[in-house]
Amino acid sequence: MKASTTPLALALCVCSVLGDAPSTSGTEWKKTQLLDDFTGTPGSLPSSSNWIIQTGTSYPGGPAQWGTGEVETYTSSTNIRLFDSGHLWIVPQRSSSGAWTSGRIESRRNDFAAPAGGKLRVEARIKMPDVTGSNGLGYWPAFWLVGGAFRGNYSNWPAVGEIDIMENINGQDTITEVLHCDVNPGGACNEPSGLGHQGTCTGSRCPGNFHIYEVVLDRTTSPEQLKFWLDRKLQYTITETQLGSTKWANTLHRGFYVVLNVAMGGAYPNAIAGFTTPTANTVPGVQMSIDYVAVWTTS
Ligand SMILES: *[C@@H]1O[C@H](CO)[C@@H](O)[C@H](O)[C@H]1NC(C)=O
Repeated sequence: MKASTTPLALALCVCSVLGDAPSTSGTEWKKTQLLDDFTGTPGSLPSSSNWIIQTGTSYPGGPAQWGTGEVETYTSSTNIRLFDSGHLWIVPQRSSSGAWTSGRIESRRNDFAAPAGGKLRVEARIKMPDVTGSNGLGYWPAFWLVGGAFRGNYSNWPAVGEIDIMENINGQDTITEVLHCDVNPGGACNEPSGLGHQGTCTGSRCPGNFHIYEVVLDRTTSPEQLKFWLDRKLQYTITETQLGSTKWANTLHRGFYVVLNVAMGGAYPNAIAGFTTPTANTVPGVQMSIDYVAVWTTS
């Protein structure tokens, strides 16, 4: 995004119009933990001090195909680049032999946490790939948080916690907002589904247009709350009571890292499509464009 339009200023402006968003005015969001508006030389990679670029088909020693059945190989080349006046593009590509590549970045920091008695807010302004119908089969863009203890272990999911702020499959005009926790299968979060909700975009179709995806972990209230927002509208709330205090604390009183990726294929898009994705009709080369990512805490 352009430097003149900071997320903070944008949030203030939208907040005052819609009124129901977490406020960025006054002194609530005292501490900016991460703010990247992806300004930089067109064609270059995002800041290596903020981001790790994952490559290949798994974490070192982690489950194959990133544990989801997704079929792409992540690269740090043409699948990821700064472009278009301050946006990060993640672009799935298909080779002449039919092999898919794409991009996945993760915040270098893995300790984004809500302080005791405070709040954590994580948001991004994202234009998901402009695909629909058969063109979009297998597209799986996502903006999510993973418990920091996953990094380097890769066998402790879902106990480490995962918060999916936005997942979208097959170019559908809806997203899912999900909390994963505890044990798989079953457990307090009903794995492998997780505790989830279908989110809806305001004003324009989700894929192909910019929308603001956001989560707030609120430890100022009793019971504590996890709130998912989309376009500054509250979509879904999960409370401490639903998990019980011990499992809530084990899942959410911890640090997280941010992930942005566009997977291709895998269990989730396949299950919704009812067959294996992507297909020969899936159109390669349609980018997810990220305007900014921000993480704030109250202190
Ligand atoms: C990974 O996490 C599991 C589950 O919490 C734990 O039992 C194991 O010791 C961890 N492994 C490492 C290498 O930290």
